[in-house]
Amino acid sequence: QAIYGPERRNSRGINMNVQSQWLPLKQELDEHLARTWTGAPIVSGKHLQGEARPVMCPYQLDHQVGEVIWATGEQTRDAITGLSAAFAQWNATPVDTRASILERTADLLEQNMPELMALCSREAGKSLQDGIDEVREAVDFCRFYAQQARQRFAVITLPGPTGESNELYLQGRGVFACISPWNFPLAIFLGQVSAALVSGNTVVAKPAEQASLVAVRCVELMLHAGLPGEVIALLPGDGAQVGSVISSDPRVAGVAFTGSTQTAHIINRALAARDSAIAPMIAETGGQNAMLVDSTALPEQVIKDVLHSSFTSAGQRCSALRVLFIQEDIAERVMALLKGAMAELHIGDPSRRDTDVGPVIDAEARDGLREHVKRMKDAGYLIAEASMPEGLNGHFLAPVAFRLKSISELDREHFGPVLHLITWRHDQLDQIIDEINATGFGLTLGIHSRNEDTARYIDQRVRIGNVYVNRNQIGAVVGVQPFGGQGLSGTGPKAGGPHYLLRFATERTRTINT
Ligand code: SER
Repeated sequence: QAIYGPERRNSRGINMNVQSQWLPLKQELDEHLARTWTGAPIVSGKHLQGEARPVMCPYQLDHQVGEVIWATGEQTRDAITGLSAAFAQWNATPVDTRASILERTADLLEQNMPELMALCSREAGKSLQDGIDEVREAVDFCRFYAQQARQRFAVITLPGPTGESNELYLQGRGVFACISPWNFPLAIFLGQVSAALVSGNTVVAKPAEQASLVAVRCVELMLHAGLPGEVIALLPGDGAQVGSVISSDPRVAGVAFTGSTQTAHIINRALAARDSAIAPMIAETGGQNAMLVDSTALPEQVIKDVLHSSFTSAGQRCSALRVLFIQEDIAERVMALLKGAMAELHIGDPSRRDTDVGPVIDAEARDGLREHVKRMKDAGYLIAEASMPEGLNGHFLAPVAFRLKSISELDREHFGPVLHLITWRHDQLDQIIDEINATGFGLTLGIHSRNEDTARYIDQRVRIGNVYVNRNQIGAVVGVQPFGGQGLSGTGPKAGGPHYLLRFATERTRTINT
């Protein structure tokens, strides 16, 4: 309460197991699943013309979801010119006005949930539950940052000698770039954009190539909610073209980026190479996330949390569990349970309510994962693999689990439904902690232990942003589990946390001799 101010409730979403909620949702969903969408760059509130590219569905490869026009480098530079000119007025707009626009956007997102869920499914292969969670998270970001901004951007009066007034307050930085990933095409996109806008920045947003239609629809709703067109430019397009124009433009005052560590390095170098203002970069990148399970853990609970952490969203979450460390005393039991549970997973059409695992995003992602799976199988590491139904026509990969000797055998993050398992002896705990820290990643860690001392011991020694004890390790909730990592996993601050907006703002001290 002290941190967050007045009471604010997170979005409730929809419970698909309650018929009275599910049936009306299903009717609307079916209509949207059958339709198509068109998208284009949006600059100054207008859709730009250009050559349209087809958008294909990742789980019905012959189904065209719609088409989208990509922005050019020249359009990107022109858009930044407009955003630079619009900054002063937007920055001077009362924070309450900016916050109210986010709150109206949140209302519109809730009203349009079936369409947004259908789009997340059709364009990004999201399951229905993931679609609900995605819209809820986007709604929560809007309301949370609106509330935060009202509190944080209030003027602080400071002491001073008689005849002098001193004030401190936050302001926007200028044109802020928001570069977002395909795995949360609505929630992370809007999380970045809403934070930047409510802090007084104008925004140049580049959504991921694979999921631009969701972002286009989202910006249309923001404009409908009253956002002035001049303060946002949405530029779908190629990372190598639009992204590099943005990150090397001297007028860009800051960058919020979520995606791979490798791309974060490229953007960081481009920002550093400019001869202009030193711009902050907020990066949220990958992970080599582990779960440590000791012999006091409850195997059934472990399996439930492992499956959820590893295979939800087909493993395409930066928070997802990649390496499960099981103390050897319970390893056989856990592996047997894991095998049984993986055999029950339903792979298939993510727009069906009973599907557990949908497709991965595209052919390139699937092929990269297949290569890793083949290498692991050839090495004789296979423990369990879910069965793939016949006749699927999409970028599917069966969830699979391998046994490794050490986490150092993994060359990189494998962003899909692939779990690795390592057993450990009771005298190896420090060594495992060292190995996890040595990966350089620091996003999520799960701990399963009924021994509080062990859990505390691990927690105190790992360099990790989000630690989850005796539960799954994905699905951070806005304002509840502020999310973000350290080291190779990102710069912080945490999305959905009370310090996030501060990085989008600059501070002004005003002293007046009265
Ligand atoms: N915030 C997401 C989660 O916690 C990952 O990006 O799963």
